[in-house]
Formats: sequence, structure tokens, C-alpha cells
Amino acid sequence: MLGADVYGISNQVYDAPSLYEEARVGEGLTSYMADIRDLPKMQEIFSSVQPDFVFHLAAQAIVKASYVDPVDCMTTNIIGTTNILEALRGLTTPCVAVMITSDKCYDNVEWIWGYRETDALGGKDPYSASKGGAELMIKTYYHSYFKGKGNIKISSVRAGNVIGGGDWAANRIVPDCFRAWSAQEKVVIRSPLATRPWQHVLEPLSGYLMTGLALATQENIDGEAFNFGPPTDRNFTVIDLLRKLAERWAPEEKDIVEIQQSDFYEAGLLKLNIDKALYYLNWRPTLNFQQTSDVTCDWYKNYYQGQQTDVRQFTEAQIKDYVRVAQENEILWALK
Ligand SMILES: NC(=O)c1ccc[n+]([C@@H]2O[C@H](COP(=O)([O-])OP(=O)(O)OC[C@H]3O[C@@H](n4cnc5c(N)ncnc54)[C@H](O)[C@@H]3O)[C@@H](O)[C@H]2O)c1
Repeated sequence: MLGADVYGISNQVYDAPSLYEEARVGEGLTSYMADIRDLPKMQEIFSSVQPDFVFHLAAQAIVKASYVDPVDCMTTNIIGTTNILEALRGLTTPCVAVMITSDKCYDNVEWIWGYRETDALGGKDPYSASKGGAELMIKTYYHSYFKGKGNIKISSVRAGNVIGGGDWAANRIVPDCFRAWSAQEKVVIRSPLATRPWQHVLEPLSGYLMTGLALATQENIDGEAFNFGPPTDRNFTVIDLLRKLAERWAPEEKDIVEIQQSDFYEAGLLKLNIDKALYYLNWRPTLNFQQTSDVTCDWYKNYYQGQQTDVRQFTEAQIKDYVRVAQENEILWALK
């Protein structure tokens, strides 16, 4: 929608249904079906495309799956990220790289404060460890190969819990809700009182684009990490979110959530400090919690309950609405 020539890499279409297919995403870009663990393939793609900007999002991104297959998680998230860094190292042309890790990269000590970019990395579960590991690789490539050498500018970006239409990943709370509710079933949840920095997917994406722009135009953020999340007074529990979604999905239904004990460790309290993004990038969130859950629910309502407006059109309309609200809130990236 911004007019870029887009090239995408994925080793498979993961979910069914999938936003990639439903919104015909492939029509607007050049797709490579390739595994980021295949270094020669990554080098071949990078040297043929010679990208101006790289946004590295490919990952094994599900906490529960990381317990089932930790090796797959580590090879994808740590070795895969290293391969992207290595492919960047082979470029001789200028390139800005925005490396997406996660808020889970922080060693979660269940404290009440938001994590800052300088806090210790780590993680008790395999997914968190893999994201901490990816961060270490980004840092070492920056210091060993990119810093002060000219052509590669790089940042790592750490978003809070992302929600939004089009997500059908397994074992994620929002897709789980709409899968169950659209089949007239209750949704089963594991940790109703876990607090998370929920945000609509367009919020960190605006931050990632802003980071790319700033890396290309400002001298002072190369090698820096940035958090993207809601304001720290806006951390809600899983059950807060589900109540909001359920009210909008089916206001007359009172009993569509079932609580079960979790069988694996997940952090209870997680907050992000976003002062650095505000200071260096002038970035701040656009939507409040009500808008975040409404925009998310409306997408699934259109898909499952509505007139089935074309998924691509509906998604693009939501993006335009989001930009309009950001302009009304005078958020810098939307005014450019
Ligand atoms: N969803 C969240 O709440 C959240 C929060 C913070 C950070 N993140 C991070 O943002 C990024 C995107 O997350 P998402 O929620 O869109 O996840 P997702 O699972 O929906 O998408 C990840 C994509 O990575 C690709 N992929 C996976 N393994 C691959 C491999 N070996 N080779 C090539 N491609 C591969 C696939 O196309 C897959 O669809 C991830 O790095 C994730 O860790 C997600």
C-alpha cells in the first residue's frame, strides 16, 4: 500500500485458513518458498534481490510448540536469524534491517515494572530462550561486522502480545476464541489472570516501519533495540480481553469461556517500557484497549458472521481506518 516492491520468504503456508491465501497477499509480491535455515538459499535470494529494507519476521512463534519441539524452535529462531544476518553481511549495497524478536526475549522476573531495552535477556521456556538467543546474534553481528562499516544499518524490535484479524495460528488465545465461537463451542483458556501487553498488530508494524525509516535517515539509532507495546497503565489480563471480544462477538451469550489449569509454564506478568521508542522515533500507540479488541473482533465477524466482504478489501479498509485514527491522534508516522 506504500508502493514498495515486496519480496517475501516463507517455507510453507502454515495455517488453514491463512491470511496469506484469504487476502491473496501473494498477488502483490514476489514469493520465495524457502527455509531460513538454508543459508545458501538465503544468500542467493539476498544477492539477487539486493533489498533496500529487510523486515525479518519469520519464526517459530508459538510458546506451546516450542515445548513440543525445542530443536525446531532453536534452529528456526536462532540459526535462521543468524542466516539472515549472514546473508545481510554478504550484501555490498546499502540495506536497512529491522529484526523482529519479541518481548519474551527478556528474562521475566515477574516484577511490576515494564522491561527496558537494557534489561537482562533470557527465558525459562524454549521460545523465550530462542528469542533471547536471536537477540545475542543480532548484537554480535552488529558489533563484529556492521557497526561503522557503512552499508548495513540494523535494529532489533521487541513487541508485546499482538492480536488482530487474520491470525489463525494454533494455541493462540485470539484465534482459539474465534475458531471455537464460530463453531458454536466454548473457548478453553489456560491462564485467565496472566497479564499481557496486548496491542493490535498494526501498532508494532507502524513501529517497525518507523524504525526502518529512522535507520535510513538518522545516525543515532543504528544497533539499538526498541520495545513496542501499549502504555504501561494498559496491561490487561487474558480474561479482560476475552470479555471484551465476547461482548462484541455475541452480546447475548453469557457462557462462552471455559477455564482449565495450564500444563506448562508461561510468565504471569509481562509489561514493556516504551519510552525509548517515544524518545527516538516519536512512536506511540494509536488505539486504546476497547478499539484494539473491537477492530480485532470486527475482522473475524466479517469473516465468520458477516457478508464476507472480500478479505483483502476488508483488511485494507481496516489499515486505512487505523492510519486515519493515527492522524487524528497526531502520531508522527501518520502525518508524514
Ligand atoms: N504474535 C505475537 O504476539 C508476537 C509478539 C511479539 C513478537 N512476535 C514475533 O513476530 C514475528 C511474526 O510473528 P507472527 O505472530 O506473525 O507469527 P506467525 O507464526 O503467524 O508467522 C511466522 C511466519 O514465519 C514463517 N516461518 C516459520 N518458520 C520458517 C522457516 N523455517 N523458514 C521460513 N519461514 C518460516 C512462516 O511464514 C510463518 O507464517 C515472529 O518473529 C514472532 O516471534 C510475535
